[in-house]
Amino acid sequence: MVQDTPIIELANVDRSFSGRSKTVEALRDFTLDLRDGEVLTIVGPSGCGKSTLLNILARLEKPTGGTLSFRGVDAEKSGVQIGYVTQSDTLFPWRTLLGNVEYPLEIRGVSKNVRRERAMSLLERVGLAGFEDRLPFELSGGMRQRGNIVRALVYDPDIVLMDEPFGALDAQTRLLLQDQLQRLCAEERKTVVFITHDLQEAIALGDRVVVMTARPGRIKMIRTVGLERPRDLNHIHEIPRFQELLSELWDCLRDEVLLAGQGSGK
Ligand SMILES: Nc1ncnc2c1ncn2[C@@H]1O[C@H](COP(=O)(O)OP(=O)(O)OP(=O)(O)O)[C@@H](O)[C@H]1O
Ligand SMILES: [Mg+2]
Repeated sequence: MVQDTPIIELANVDRSFSGRSKTVEALRDFTLDLRDGEVLTIVGPSGCGKSTLLNILARLEKPTGGTLSFRGVDAEKSGVQIGYVTQSDTLFPWRTLLGNVEYPLEIRGVSKNVRRERAMSLLERVGLAGFEDRLPFELSGGMRQRGNIVRALVYDPDIVLMDEPFGALDAQTRLLLQDQLQRLCAEERKTVVFITHDLQEAIALGDRVVVMTARPGRIKMIRTVGLERPRDLNHIHEIPRFQELLSELWDCLRDEVLLAGQGSGK
């Protein structure tokens, strides 16, 4: 029975923010299901409600309309575990890399040996062994971002939310991290919602790609990527299906980016 129940079910979700003088409608009528183990990537113009959507999924914000369920249970009552890599780097500056990655296990009362083993195993898998005793300021941006990602995975959440995790990185580092992420998520069988402003990244990493409209954010298009896994990210751009999707999705996204740039869609 539970097999076919989506792990995430958003039904007609709206989110508005009431200010002193006006109300901003961030999301409108957002309806979407995710299956267990699916990687959903989302693109959309700046300000269209992508982070708001992740905040709702993380249960940090409540929808002003519609419903959210996890495995058929209302989000408020669901015990589903969620890992969140937010848009800004949130490593604690006073803790070492290892101390940061262990933190979610520490607050869950996991014993020192177990948490050390789990944290070290993840750090090794993203090439950070040897850096565990460094403080965040001693690490590069790419290293810190890997730290943020493994910290979100360390307590084995059912769902992982990522908000433009590679946005600030150079192209080579981004490719390396994309590859590490796809391996890690496949090994750990995670359901992932991944926001990016990079359409190529959205296709390379996603099972499905969602294009959002300019604000208020709605779903404009959903496409199934349909490329085999594991994917060779160095050469994925040469595959005709990739090119075809890129062109179709860009045609769809471009109009929304222009609209957002003109300050429309308020
Ligand atoms: N707490 C808040 N209070 C008031 N308005 C908010 C709040 N959070 C978001 N908004 C507004 O909601 C809209 C969507 O914001 P959001 O951060 O979700 O966009 P985004 O798609 O993530 O943009 P970006 O790509 O730039 O990160 C914006 O107009 C923003 O000003
Ligand atoms: Mg955002």
